[in-house]
Amino acid sequence: MTNNPSTIYVLGLGSIGSFIAHSLCSLVKPPSVTLLVHRQDLYQELAAKNWRLGLRVGERGSLEETSGFNAEMPGQQSSPCVDQIRYLVVAVKASATVTALEPFKNRIGRETIICLFQNGLGQVEDMNEQLFVDPSTRPTYMFGIMRHGVYLKSSTEAILSSPNGCAEVGVVGSSHGSPAPSPDRFLIDALLRSPNLRCTELKWADLLRVQLLKLAANCVVNPLTALLDIRNGDLLDNPHLQPIQCCLLKEISNVFENLPEIQHLPRDCTNFSVMSLEAVVQDTVEKTAQNSSSMREDIRKGRPTEIMFINGWVIRRGKDLGIDCIANICLTQMILAKSQEQTGISRSDS
Ligand SMILES: NC(=O)c1ccc[n+]([C@@H]2O[C@H](COP(=O)([O-])OP(=O)(O)OC[C@H]3O[C@@H](n4cnc5c(N)ncnc54)[C@H](OP(=O)(O)O)[C@@H]3O)[C@@H](O)[C@H]2O)c1
Repeated sequence: MTNNPSTIYVLGLGSIGSFIAHSLCSLVKPPSVTLLVHRQDLYQELAAKNWRLGLRVGERGSLEETSGFNAEMPGQQSSPCVDQIRYLVVAVKASATVTALEPFKNRIGRETIICLFQNGLGQVEDMNEQLFVDPSTRPTYMFGIMRHGVYLKSSTEAILSSPNGCAEVGVVGSSHGSPAPSPDRFLIDALLRSPNLRCTELKWADLLRVQLLKLAANCVVNPLTALLDIRNGDLLDNPHLQPIQCCLLKEISNVFENLPEIQHLPRDCTNFSVMSLEAVVQDTVEKTAQNSSSMREDIRKGRPTEIMFINGWVIRRGKDLGIDCIANICLTQMILAKSQEQTGISRSDS
């Protein structure tokens, strides 16, 4: 437990959360970092390792270890911690965001900066509707776009697939075009200082554009690789997928170009033509050809997917705009059906 007001809390200690916690704690002059642990067995495993987290670049890379983390597990302390949370990195899957934040919502307020390192869109709307209903006491949101590939070899050891990945962060602006707030820079600067994260900062207009482009690539790559159980690069070898990709991207382009929030952006940020989206998908598939997508891995391991925050977000926004997204609906339903086949998960947020 800690009451250092500059503590950076990390929620979601999977691949990305462990990588970020490790990266923050290995900084020269590291900030205080508190791991928010949600499972007793994980708490015990981390405690047994003396709160050390390791990182290797590649399976055969040398092990860099860091220690000095604080940790909290809700419900474990005799008196619940009431320290305000000023800086919070969230790295749970998009579908777990609200549930994961629920135990901490009373410690989050207007002064809090939450940085979401997640795929997909729609989490901010969910948090505002379900957790932080009063706009006057809402936290400031930041989004982190992760272009590193990371997986866990064990609960205390993450593997970074290559040293050449990078990340982008920025503060989320309003959907009405007013500029993003300028929060204090402690969390942003800590993320930018990390040599491992290789993080750059984006203004809201650029961040939104990059998020939408990444979402378009995820809308094609994630469900198709999950349904066919293939690596990303195998998408290029199958000509039967081309018409499906074309239908998906036509719908996505139509939705993106009509979003109210992009109408306020500079003109060079608002081109979401089918051709530009196709180029992004092609580039993503080529750069990640050897990767197995997170949705494919989620389906294989019987875990909920992020489909409702990827194609599901396009469908929801399309519905608001009166745009039918039949191809995206079909693919989403196929993923939900496949999840149910694998796991019995039938909830619409799976
Ligand atoms: N890994 C990558 O290379 C990569 C790259 C780009 C983007 N991303 C995105 O980054 C996000 C995180 O991905 P990831 O690969 O780190 O996922 P992950 O390895 O599955 O990690 C998620 C972590 O959140 C934990 N969690 C689940 N419910 C929780 C709760 N209620 N409270 C606290 N923690 C909870 C999970 O614990 P359990 O073990 O108990 O489930 C798990 O440790 C996702 O949106 C993903 O799409 C990942």
